[in-house]
Amino acid sequence: MPNYQPQRGTYDAYYEDALNIEKIEDSLKSVALNYGYTPIHTPIYESTDLFTRSAGESSDIVTKEMFDFTDKGGRNISLRPEVTAGVMRAIVSNKLYATHDLPLKQFYLGPAFRYERPSAGRYRQFNQFGVETVGVTSSYEDAETIILGVDALHKIGFKKVILKINSIGDQASRDNYRTALKEYFKPYIDEMCPDCKRRYEVNPLRILDCKVPEDIEKVSNAPKMGDYLNEESKARFNEVLSLLDKEKIEYVIDNTLVRGLDYYSHVVFEFHYISDNGTNLGAIGAGGHYDNLVHEVGGPELSSVGFAFGIERLNSLLKEIDLENYARPTLDAYIVYLGEKAKDFAFSFAHDIRKNNLKCDINLEDKSMKASIKIALRKNAKYMIVIGEDEINNNLYQMKNLLTQEQVALSKEDIIAALKK
Ligand code: HAM
Repeated sequence: MPNYQPQRGTYDAYYEDALNIEKIEDSLKSVALNYGYTPIHTPIYESTDLFTRSAGESSDIVTKEMFDFTDKGGRNISLRPEVTAGVMRAIVSNKLYATHDLPLKQFYLGPAFRYERPSAGRYRQFNQFGVETVGVTSSYEDAETIILGVDALHKIGFKKVILKINSIGDQASRDNYRTALKEYFKPYIDEMCPDCKRRYEVNPLRILDCKVPEDIEKVSNAPKMGDYLNEESKARFNEVLSLLDKEKIEYVIDNTLVRGLDYYSHVVFEFHYISDNGTNLGAIGAGGHYDNLVHEVGGPELSSVGFAFGIERLNSLLKEIDLENYARPTLDAYIVYLGEKAKDFAFSFAHDIRKNNLKCDINLEDKSMKASIKIALRKNAKYMIVIGEDEINNNLYQMKNLLTQEQVALSKEDIIAALKK
């Protein structure tokens, strides 16, 4: 039996959902453009090495969640589990750092793939909108990226965003912290889960990602990154915090935040939102500063900062926040015709309205007047225009405001002029 079922962890979006997703995406893009970012498009598949190297061999993403395969030419390929690595690869492949002013400011929107256990707000194919600023030295850029994230969330309708922030410091601070973690976990590691045993050897920081109930207490009592930051790292973190204070951006310092990808250094952050009904989908967006990614994929040493939002999480929460204003299909005009001759005329009339950049629909399946009115209402048309033979002969058509029920008879030209207003 052939299988035509949707794949686990995938979804179809249509009507209001699809419209709202596009509305969110348009708003996010416009905020990024306002901040001086330009779009970048990169492939959804890349060599598996790129992701292994960037996300880190010990990360859950690489060890458990990659959609990897061998193509017909024997290459090891993966669907991207996130977009940052591909953007860095594109910047290096195209030497953008040599041909454009630094910092490069790129934004992107597109699907990512992770073989995770599907649950609320967790899919195997999902969409990310993100920004990356490459060639950063100043902590102002770290702060600007975070502020962009908060502004964008406000713009799409999130009024009370929770911004969690932490610093994982520079390499030297993290090395110290790693040593402290190894020492702390040493007496427990033999009785901890197999993942933790592996992480202990490869990257003890990843032990902090452990969700196994028996390990949680040991993990929560582990040393905190904040206590291992050297003076330089502390100073950089304080600079970012004071810029956020200056711009009145509220945040919570969360010293357990280390993020699930290996490339970060210095400031890391997550955006959260808990709805009035208590819905919490985890992070709606996350990111941080990273120092080595461009170099690791073959380019020069350029520090960067960026974040990505999960579009599906934003969309489901926005539906809860404000169902009233959740996107609905709307039309400026809906055209109703009565009879074959009128149909021909109405067909061109609709075309003329649309040529004026107005939203207009017509059902060309010879519906009755009663059925047409119902469709016009369901499509949230502002006006209904009725076309019959008499109307054509007199060049006067009934234009009805479907909200107020007011009705006027106008010529075709006057109708178009009125709709444009
Ligand atoms: P991430 O935290 O792995 O970071 O993902 C960013 C966001 O993508 C999450 O906060 C979440 O909203 C969404 N997301 C992740 N996994 C799923 C899923 N399975 N289903 C639905 N949504 C999901 C990154 O990907 C980094 N590249 C962010 C970044 C950019 N850091 C620096 N620049």
